[in-house]
Amino acid sequence: MATVLLRHPPFSSPIHSSHTSTSTSTSHLFLHFPHSSFPKFTISCSSSHPSRPNYIPNHIPDPSYVRIFDTTLRDGEQSPGASMTAKEKLDIARQLAKLGVDVIEAGFPAASQADFDAVVMIAKEVGNAVYEDGYVPVICGLSRCSEKDIRSAWEAVKHAKRPRVHAFIATSSIHMEYKLKKTKEQVIEIARNMIKLARSLGCEDIEFSPEDAGRSEREFLYEILGEVIKAGATTLNIPDTVGINMPSEYGGLIADIKANTPGVENVIISTHCQNDLGLSTANTLEGARAGARQLEVTVNGIGERAGNASLEEVVMALKCGSHVFGNLYTGMNTKHIYRTSRMVEEYSGLQLQPHKALVGLNAFAHESGIHQDGMLKHRGTYEIISPEDIGLERPEDQAGIVLGKLSGRHAVKKRLEELGYELKDDNLESLFQRFKSVAEKKKRVTDADLRALVSDENFQAEPIWKLGDVQVSCGTLGLSTATVKLVGIDNTEHIGCSIGTGPLDAAYKAIDLIVKEPVTLLEYSMNAVTEGIDAIATTRVLIRGVDNHISTHALTGETYHRTFSGVGAGMDVVVSSVKAYIAALNKMLGFKGT
Ligand code: KIV
Repeated sequence: MATVLLRHPPFSSPIHSSHTSTSTSTSHLFLHFPHSSFPKFTISCSSSHPSRPNYIPNHIPDPSYVRIFDTTLRDGEQSPGASMTAKEKLDIARQLAKLGVDVIEAGFPAASQADFDAVVMIAKEVGNAVYEDGYVPVICGLSRCSEKDIRSAWEAVKHAKRPRVHAFIATSSIHMEYKLKKTKEQVIEIARNMIKLARSLGCEDIEFSPEDAGRSEREFLYEILGEVIKAGATTLNIPDTVGINMPSEYGGLIADIKANTPGVENVIISTHCQNDLGLSTANTLEGARAGARQLEVTVNGIGERAGNASLEEVVMALKCGSHVFGNLYTGMNTKHIYRTSRMVEEYSGLQLQPHKALVGLNAFAHESGIHQDGMLKHRGTYEIISPEDIGLERPEDQAGIVLGKLSGRHAVKKRLEELGYELKDDNLESLFQRFKSVAEKKKRVTDADLRALVSDENFQAEPIWKLGDVQVSCGTLGLSTATVKLVGIDNTEHIGCSIGTGPLDAAYKAIDLIVKEPVTLLEYSMNAVTEGIDAIATTRVLIRGVDNHISTHALTGETYHRTFSGVGAGMDVVVSSVKAYIAALNKMLGFKGT
């Protein structure tokens, strides 16, 4: 049954605060000026557009409308260590729907049982939540051109109101010869048959990708694309799989495909640009200029190797550069960008560089005297986008709510909902207790603190092991020792003691003695969420199981050992680190492989 949701209009114009205020947190200067004080020459990204056209798989009624296809949960999750739990994926999918993305690629269902289950869950819930303006995201599942994959993708997405299967096969000479060991004719035959198979299962929205199109022979591309159109494909996605194309070259590729592929007027052309040379956003925009009307992106640009074109960059560049792009527009509610970015950062464990465009910590910070002076005189001197346009609220704007030790459950719940986190009552209660203990020690609990608590507490995999107690002794007098008490799923208590080269080594070894699951610790990092001695420390670890937890890689088809990240948060760095390790172990133990 479909649910109807209400939200702010996707095309709402930006809110510009009407007061001037400053905050010197992290010694940057944040300023607000009335929007009316913008002189005419200042770039303004506040364009308004007609509403989102009706969804028809192979046709967009308004030629200026560009679909946004988000693949954070598929290509993004292929980033090493970015494995997310089903609950985390569902949360991100809900947030992507708030953003208004047209298509959510929810996963690669044939990769593992866990991937399949997560796509089903998203298709059932997010794929049936219809907004008041009729918007409901298309839910898409990736599939190699194999019968098993196509069936699995369809079985997973068919629960959505608008299901899509995305089939791909490589078309470059190097991939066909060395990876597939198939001739051009065989590749065409397989592609055609698999699109027909998807159609025969009842799927009417089918995307086809000639993998490594950026290095494929043009004439062969026109031929295979023409054949899959005849077989029933509705979107043709043109991946620059290895990120080798230059912007003008990629734009040329899209233009050539539009000009030479038989039947192309009956389908949508899409871009998919990897970021190996840092050109993914530029290539995507050139693709749009050349006539692509679906753009594949990921939040924060996460993805294989150097990642994908970033959603926030592509969407905001289209908005700010509409004069260059012939008034192309999207259906995105950009005010959800910042929150979505933070959520993806927390759940994927892939931390943003401070200077990441739009969503990095420094993206709207002004440090140098000259810049601060300019900003004080006129905000347009150094800021091309109002931070509020992407939903970045300054601390003083947080809906008038300042969270501290006197705040109640309701205020905490409300702020969490505003940040995109929906908590069940029991989760909320346990988070609230942790919030209270932080608020006792910290005057003010910020959004960053809340996010850290959520990822620490609430969205971990089913907790197979919970931390009871931990005690360490360390220093210069001898070896570090640790005693750890873990509580098992059946509520039994287990105690392990170990020595180590430092307190964490000792504590992790003590945990290993209890859990008895061989793992390799691949990465360890710690960050202070806010400033000062009372800051919450978030720790992230990345582990890989030694024997188990196998998944199938979407592009290579090879099986590989999944890596699992865990996040812990707390004011005590040892406790935070121990929690992160247990979280990663729980994620790994709860993972259902192929
Ligand atoms: O990079 C790529 O080629 C892909 C396709 C499956 C779209 O991810």
